[in-house]
Amino acid sequence: MSRFARLANPWIALQKPYQPGRPIEEVARELGLGDVAGIVKLASNENALGPSPKAMEAMRAAIPHMHLYPDGGSFYLRQAIAKKYGVSDDMTMLGCGCNEHAVLLAHAFMDKGDEMVVSERSFVVYKLVASLYHCKCVEAPMRGMTHDLDALLAAITPKTKIVVVGNPNNPTGTMVDQAAVDRFVEQVPASVVTVFDEAYMELVEPRDQVDTLRHVKAAKKPIVTLRTFSKAYGLAGLRVGYALAQPDGIDLLNKVRQAFNVNAMAQAAAVAALDDDAHLEATRKMLRDGRKQLMDGMRKLGLDPVESVTNFILFPFKKAAGLTAALTKRKVIVRPMAGFGLPDYVRVSVGTAKENAQFLHALSEALIELK
Ligand SMILES: Cc1ncc(COP(=O)(O)O)c(C=O)c1O
Repeated sequence: MSRFARLANPWIALQKPYQPGRPIEEVARELGLGDVAGIVKLASNENALGPSPKAMEAMRAAIPHMHLYPDGGSFYLRQAIAKKYGVSDDMTMLGCGCNEHAVLLAHAFMDKGDEMVVSERSFVVYKLVASLYHCKCVEAPMRGMTHDLDALLAAITPKTKIVVVGNPNNPTGTMVDQAAVDRFVEQVPASVVTVFDEAYMELVEPRDQVDTLRHVKAAKKPIVTLRTFSKAYGLAGLRVGYALAQPDGIDLLNKVRQAFNVNAMAQAAAVAALDDDAHLEATRKMLRDGRKQLMDGMRKLGLDPVESVTNFILFPFKKAAGLTAALTKRKVIVRPMAGFGLPDYVRVSVGTAKENAQFLHALSEALIELK
């Protein structure tokens, strides 16, 4: 054990850091390529259409002001979010991606020995964050690849402070519907903060989207809904996400965040992106077509992918690490799911038609190599 590790809080020293998807540049170096051209990254559920054009314009306009600190209260962005959802601007709070909200929620609500309840095959960041705060993360069983909200409720104990429902769920790509969510909210104890992580919700077809804001607005239970600009709006590199909750909940989150947690470029881009419905609709169309292309292609190759409502697809594969490496060699980056506790699964993000075709071609070759 290193000197620093001996000095650290033991639960921090033992923490295994989050393993992000590999950047294209790193893979280019590994493959001995001079640049990233030709490499397809389908590992981090980014928007293959790129940033909203309106956001890019806003960023260009913001460049001359980058010597100034950002607005620490993200005033215009909060106003834009509040207008979009018909809430007051004290019901939203911005973060450095909604990943930051996961940390802020734990910081505000969890203490040593408390419990956080999540589903077993869900976003790994919540599990890591619970251990950062010396808390237990209780993993409720799922029904196959979909949340079992009754199991989540059953896992709640007097020690539970936070229950998280990722909807749609990463990495399975499935979702629970409005009726199930409404029933869950009715039954969840008011002594627990319910977090609906909706990082992927805007990517779902509008008729299937679930409205949790009605429960936030009803104010009967402490509910926090999280959204992000990283996925539907194509701004993952800027790191900006938001929470929606009653003002007293937002007030608490504001107490534990850094003063300038969202940079000025991110704020400018996000305001513009929120107003870009055409980009959002084009993104959904790309995903509709892309999911079909990938599902059909993978099934033809004998794989059994999980039906997804969003921008990634999970599929079982026994030699997941080997497959990932074989695809990387062919300039396609996907995500092995061992870090999410699914060692026999791989997740591929939905790309453009050309990227999906490159993935399917590389996959067909990799499957032969691994036979
Ligand atoms: C379920 C879920 N929640 C939250 C996030 C975090 O998104 P960001 O921090 O980029 O806003 C992700 C990112 O992959 C995710 O999959």
